[in-house]
Amino acid sequence: CLSPALLPLHDIKNSIVVVIDIFRASTSMCYGIANGAEGIIPVAEVSTCAIYKDHGYLLAAERNGEVVDGFDFGNSPFSYVEEKVKGRTIVLTTTNGTKAIHLSREAKKVVIGSFLNLSILCDWLQKQKEDILLVCAGWKDNFNLEDTIFAGAVINKLKASHQKEDDASIAAETLYNCAQPDISTYLAESAHSRRLQNLGIQKDIDFCLQVDTLNVIPVLEGDRLVELKEY
Ligand code: MLT
Repeated sequence: CLSPALLPLHDIKNSIVVVIDIFRASTSMCYGIANGAEGIIPVAEVSTCAIYKDHGYLLAAERNGEVVDGFDFGNSPFSYVEEKVKGRTIVLTTTNGTKAIHLSREAKKVVIGSFLNLSILCDWLQKQKEDILLVCAGWKDNFNLEDTIFAGAVINKLKASHQKEDDASIAAETLYNCAQPDISTYLAESAHSRRLQNLGIQKDIDFCLQVDTLNVIPVLEGDRLVELKEY
């Protein structure tokens, strides 16, 4: 079974969860791991992130799209470049993305998806036997377009190998097909695009919509995201 998830309705223990937060948490996580970050510890609360101060970690905190005062950086992919993150462990909290990971932690496996690693993720998912839940982080417990369109892209690539079972899958793929000729234009009016544009960071939006620039899949091992080794 392959399905976008409404988490409280699912038993996730036997499933592989793909956490999706296209603008920008899951994209930045993939980019940070690809750039040599030793690990990313996702935490749900800013106060939890602060506890890791003075232990040699980089501390990253974002709320409502902005860097939280007193932290090294936030959630912009441009903060996750090799010069900054190689060999370092980052403790990260974001408005929605790290919360989605936190809610998914009981799953059999949690991996991170973004347009940057779409094909390698789908190639790997195709080989898995478990049910797959595509967990769209959304915005403050609400639906959003960009995460659902990405879920639709995954469903589109996997439908030959996985049974498409529910209406959420059909809706996500339909939305993806609708957006597909020009996802960037389609998403220009989305709520979080507008939020990020108001913060003057259109370049982050453009960065997050690049396809297949990375060959890594972050996976949750214990409390941290690391690079998945078995492809
Ligand atoms: C989140 O986790 O809510 C987002 O990634 C927000 C953002 O764009 O920083």
